[in-house]
Amino acid sequence: MKAKITLLPGDGIGPEVVEAAQKILEKIGQKFGHHFDMEAHLIGGIAIDKTGVALPEETLAVCKKADAIILGAVGGPKWDDPNAAVRPEQGLLGLRKELGLFANLRPVQPHPQLMGASPLKESYLEGVDMLILRELTGGIYFGEPREKRINANGEEEALDTMIYSESEIQRIARLAFEIAGERRKKVTSIDKANVLESSRLWRKTVGKVAKDYPEIELENLLIDAATMHLLSRPRDFDVMVTMNLFGDIITDEASMLTGSMGNMPSASLGDALNEFGKQRGLYEPIHGSAPDIAGRGIANPIGMILSTAMMLRHSLGLINEAEAIEKAVDSVLNSGHRTADIAKEDESPLSTSEMVNKLIEKLA
Ligand code: IPM
Ligand code: MN
Repeated sequence: MKAKITLLPGDGIGPEVVEAAQKILEKIGQKFGHHFDMEAHLIGGIAIDKTGVALPEETLAVCKKADAIILGAVGGPKWDDPNAAVRPEQGLLGLRKELGLFANLRPVQPHPQLMGASPLKESYLEGVDMLILRELTGGIYFGEPREKRINANGEEEALDTMIYSESEIQRIARLAFEIAGERRKKVTSIDKANVLESSRLWRKTVGKVAKDYPEIELENLLIDAATMHLLSRPRDFDVMVTMNLFGDIITDEASMLTGSMGNMPSASLGDALNEFGKQRGLYEPIHGSAPDIAGRGIANPIGMILSTAMMLRHSLGLINEAEAIEKAVDSVLNSGHRTADIAKEDESPLSTSEMVNKLIEKLA
């Protein structure tokens, strides 16, 4: 296969982990006889520095023609001024919206060898295997109006709008039930229906969609309770579906079940198809730009590399190749190789490139 993959390294540790993904894809290409045409483009803070905007038109145009997109991270202290007119995050949010990537899949599968790296007791983590499905192009992230203004008292005030339409809720709910049908047949929907009108519509709509899936169990949880249940009974969850903001928050919490944010992959998918008739997805680790360790070559590449496996599976239909990567990650962890974020005190951690080399050895 010949596939066009757009690389968006972005900021902080983004370039370090995207380089890791690139090396792994080169190895996969060599081993399985594929050619991945990989070209890097600007997004985020570095794009602001070079072009004045976080999502240059050229980047967007290239992404629309790609078979899949790999993104590192955006943002950092350099661009954090609350008064700034342009922000790195606009690049990522713009890309999700422009490409119609309404579904963000974030699998949470603690590795048996990493249970010690999680703050949760091992007895809670055994058998945990969930998929958090986050709505990605609606809700308070995009709702209008959003503005800063001076109110009647002459004081500054600011507002955002949390808004969902029925069809936006339906399509993400439907996907949750479809995915659950292939898994353990349970959907947990998370909202704040005791307070928010948008959440009441969410709950009502998810309930209606559930009627088409009588074989799937539906559980509704309020977001505050859900953050607690995630720690007290993580094994009970199969597919969790929730709106944009709650999904952002709860997936960072869930990542600690795996021992580190650095381990968590994600795939963002929509209706647009690529030349292979598969979804043109955006694949990114959930960890963000991690400015505290950027440039030191110590970032954990696993989240990015598992995102790459998701890309092979969802956007290119290369199942064996995806499994080869997942097996290599499994085997590297079983052999005791660790980056700093998941190493125990008495273990000497590997750098990003050492970790990648171990993975490449396993793939050989
Ligand atoms: C994520 C990130 C982004 C988000 C930021 C960088 C805009 O935290 O992908 O989880 O809030 O969606
Ligand atoms: Mn986040």
